[in-house]
Amino acid sequence: MVETGRILLAAADENLKKNIFDGLNSKFAVEFVSGMDAAAEKFKHDSFDVVIAECAGGEPKFEGFIKELKKIDPDCVVIALAINKNEQEASGLMSLGAYDLFYPPLEMEKLALVIDKAVQMHMMMVANRRLIHGLKEHNVTLEKQNILLAKRIEESTKNLSKLYEDLHSTYLRTVKVLAQAIDARDHYTHSHSENVARYATAIAAQMGLSVKDTEVIREACELHDLGKIGIEDNILTKSGPLSKEEWEQIKRHPVIGAQILEPLTFLNDVTALVRQHHEHYDGTGYTEGRKGEDILLGARIIHLADAYESMRSARSYRKVPLSRAETVEEIKKNSGTQFDPEVVRAFLNIVDNL
Ligand SMILES: [Fe+2]
Ligand SMILES: [Fe+2]
Repeated sequence: MVETGRILLAAADENLKKNIFDGLNSKFAVEFVSGMDAAAEKFKHDSFDVVIAECAGGEPKFEGFIKELKKIDPDCVVIALAINKNEQEASGLMSLGAYDLFYPPLEMEKLALVIDKAVQMHMMMVANRRLIHGLKEHNVTLEKQNILLAKRIEESTKNLSKLYEDLHSTYLRTVKVLAQAIDARDHYTHSHSENVARYATAIAAQMGLSVKDTEVIREACELHDLGKIGIEDNILTKSGPLSKEEWEQIKRHPVIGAQILEPLTFLNDVTALVRQHHEHYDGTGYTEGRKGEDILLGARIIHLADAYESMRSARSYRKVPLSRAETVEEIKKNSGTQFDPEVVRAFLNIVDNL
């Protein structure tokens, strides 16, 4: 439906009213009021695209009238009719905010054209204002929805991280229980992993390793012999010398342990240490024959702590443990071959407190 422009005509002169009504009524919806005061009052309760006002009562009154209308509709269009003035006398009205100015003799065709243009302009401005208003409201709604969505995402993320952490600690507890069960299979190795963890973290602290790296070492110590689950009891607890085949089986435990832990990707750093904990500094260890700094520092530390713990404990093949002094001598003797000299140095600094 095409909208018809709504015109409010404020005029007291009957001839003028008739002329304008006859000239415009076929094209626009025209309403009459007697003057500017009545027009301002009507404007408060009704909306019009164009107001045509007969300027009686001087310029200040006209200026006040326009200001009042603009307060109600900032886009309102006012056309001034200076009936009793000539062009020169009327020109001041334009500077007061009139959209256009007409004075006698009134040219109806020209007035109709100006009104037509003014109506279109006003309709466009109103539509524009509504659009901006609508967009602002839409933005506010979107902003509220965004905040709500962000909150929900935050909550879901928290729940998910909690679930993930729970899952991690459940996995970790399971493998630790398994590792403890391995230690407990042989009463000689009871608490072995726990003691290795204690020694290795003390060496790591002495070497100035970060809290995070030390924690990885501690976890790896607790799990380092997990792979012994795949080795027969009679080999693990054998009191006599091991055959070549039996020894080959024993040497597989770091790899078996790493294979058990591999699916737990959050333990990747720990798994690498488990895999390398029997490597020797000079490359003669197992299972990959890694050498020097090609062996992870954590694994070099665990290897020494593991050896120290074994020598200081009774074993099925050695009922009486070595003394601390004998163990220290043995470790010193193998510094640079089996053990990393740096790790040995740190160990010697703390061994009296172990
Ligand atoms: Fe081991
Ligand atoms: Fe061990």
